[in-house]
Amino acid sequence: MPGRLPKPGTLEVAPSILSADFANLASEIRQATDAGVRIVHVDVMDGHFVPNLTIGPPVVKWIRKCTQAILDVHLMITDPQEYAPRFIQAGADHITFHIETVDKPVQFIQELRRLGCSVGVTLNPKTPVESVLEYVPLCDMVLVMTVEPGFGGQEFMDEAARKCIAIRRQFGQSVRVEVDGGINASTAGIVSGYGADTLVAGHAIFGQKDRAGAIREIQAAAEGAGS
Ligand code: DX5
Ligand code: ZN
Repeated sequence: MPGRLPKPGTLEVAPSILSADFANLASEIRQATDAGVRIVHVDVMDGHFVPNLTIGPPVVKWIRKCTQAILDVHLMITDPQEYAPRFIQAGADHITFHIETVDKPVQFIQELRRLGCSVGVTLNPKTPVESVLEYVPLCDMVLVMTVEPGFGGQEFMDEAARKCIAIRRQFGQSVRVEVDGGINASTAGIVSGYGADTLVAGHAIFGQKDRAGAIREIQAAAEGAGS
């Protein structure tokens, strides 16, 4: 049975393994979970929806064997309807798809639920927040991209991050709001102030020698903004 996301409102830092050492994924993930992380963010790219290639279901299957963390699988692919079931079969707990890629989101969300996982809907920086609003009540999470998807280590886009405010205003604490791209100890406070409760960070964690220290710094910056 897939694991469940923590309930909305609890602050979670979700390390993106995109910036990890892929030859040592088990140890990279263990360093993050030893630091208290409950969600691991897995970026799937197809070289079509985004100009980069990453991993497929076989790798998720191996990751599943080495961690109990919630596997938050972010599908940056042209045909998530074709491939999502294979990621769930491989051990994904949560699937996030891009609203730009699905014609009939309601049916797709229902299908993902039937397969047992939780569901997130995401939008690119240039995609208006209105495009997801009718689907948010059906989802567990909204992912607000704060960079153009495709690569780690890019600069945070504040204008895109502000969509979190509109989502929180309309839906309160009924849904998790995740941000992805350019999150670090300097931007964590900003996005937490906008209402994000799930902070994906790749380069800011795996680009550092002290991963646990980096996670703590992001967490502290986000909590500081909330208090
Ligand atoms: C970007 C991916 C992100 C990426 C974030 O397309 O969706 O998850 O890993 O990386 P950083 O935190 O380095 O901006
Ligand atoms: Zn991502």
